[in-house]
Amino acid sequence: MSTFASFDSTRGAAAAPASGERLELDTAALEAAKRSLEKGAVTPSYGPWREDIIRLLNDALATEIVCTLRYKRHYFTAKGLDSAKIAEEFLVHANEETAHGDMLAERIVQLGGQPDFAPATLTSRSHAEYDDSADLQAMIRANLIAERVAIEAYGQMIRLIGDKDSTTRRILESILSQEQEHADELSDWLAD
Ligand SMILES: [Fe+2]
Ligand SMILES: [Fe+2]
Repeated sequence: MSTFASFDSTRGAAAAPASGERLELDTAALEAAKRSLEKGAVTPSYGPWREDIIRLLNDALATEIVCTLRYKRHYFTAKGLDSAKIAEEFLVHANEETAHGDMLAERIVQLGGQPDFAPATLTSRSHAEYDDSADLQAMIRANLIAERVAIEAYGQMIRLIGDKDSTTRRILESILSQEQEHADELSDWLAD
């Protein structure tokens, strides 16, 4: 338990602080923030976690790129089947995965890291897999598996990052909610 007072949301009221416990800013960190201007948005409180967070974000970026490629492949090859509506939705997902990757790359740069777009190592770094199934139901199934992997990975990242970097956490939470929508749609189609 940290020395900071906690808020117990399950009881709807602030937990009583331990005696002598106060909510106070770290003034030394505020002073340190005035220095090292070359670090841009990265302030001292990111401390030892910055590199780990950048690594997690780069693995997620690789995942989003592989997911974009998989959905694009499915969009073009499912065309002409009697499920044009689903093919169109694959394209919507492809564009949303690209937007997720862009958000992650932007955050990596804000944290002073290098976004890794190297194609040679994409599939080994991605959590989810590429798929070139020819059958529409197999495509839907492969996409649902990939979305479930992404949901699990983002959930774990959000728990790992916790309050270590609230900006990154909010980005991951917004991506996670869209992956959950993707999985919902796919599982509806699988049941059809
Ligand atoms: Fe995504
Ligand atoms: Fe997705």
